[in-house]
Amino acid sequence: MPEIRPYRPSDRDAVADICVRTADNGGDSRSLYPDLDLMPSIFALPYAVLEPELAFVLTDDDHPVGYILGTADTPTFATRFRTEWLPLLADRYPAPTQPPSTPTDLMISLMHDPERLVIPEVAAYPAQLHIDLLPPYQGAGHGRALMTTFLNALATAGIPAIHLSMLTSNTPARAFYDRLTFHHIPVPNADTVTYLGRSTS
Ligand SMILES: CC(C)(COP(=O)(O)OP(=O)(O)OC[C@H]1O[C@@H](n2cnc3c(N)ncnc32)[C@H](O)[C@@H]1OP(=O)(O)O)[C@@H](O)C(=O)NCCC(=O)NCCS
Repeated sequence: MPEIRPYRPSDRDAVADICVRTADNGGDSRSLYPDLDLMPSIFALPYAVLEPELAFVLTDDDHPVGYILGTADTPTFATRFRTEWLPLLADRYPAPTQPPSTPTDLMISLMHDPERLVIPEVAAYPAQLHIDLLPPYQGAGHGRALMTTFLNALATAGIPAIHLSMLTSNTPARAFYDRLTFHHIPVPNADTVTYLGRSTS
């Protein structure tokens, strides 16, 4: 029976692998982003490394098969991404000098723009999350259990509300968030991306 426990540094590779296998609109991203370090370096590992107290894994036989992670305060996270995380990546992924022309280029441009995360419309929802489960573990209540664990940790820390951004086309994920009482947050010029939020209690 899968269990939820706090993230450990030794979970790093497994968390990265889960990210890769869910990063193409909820599905396996390996053909879209052949560099398997790229997506975890943007969307999973910085959260686990910078705020491990807010990272939880779903494990099967103690091996991670899903995670929820994020930040308590998105503006602070964006600053730390810029000053502490990005320097670790800059040699491998130099800042783009041309407009992005491939999916990989686009992701590298996002990597170099953590300030994109700071959006006035979500200021009242300071926390932010990412949740991903490997396919065999989806649809069995584990996502709800991970979310409950995460929201409880935030509420205990005094964080009142959380937001997330998702690809609008990921309709199964949207159904999940709707069920967990997230609501739409209007953000101008966001069409391919949808912002959702809710209180932590
Ligand atoms: C989205 C995801 C995290 C949901 O986790 P999950 O374990 O599959 O969801 P759960 O089984 O805990 O479902 C929780 C509730 O949401 C509902 N739900 C989940 N997926 C649903 C769907 N596709 N359609 C309708 N309802 C859905 C469930 O019926 C359940 O309702 P209930 O608890 O009231 O019975 C998981 O499926 C996943 O990792 N998907 C791939 C990666 C991804 O898309 N991540 C999100 C990126 S924004």
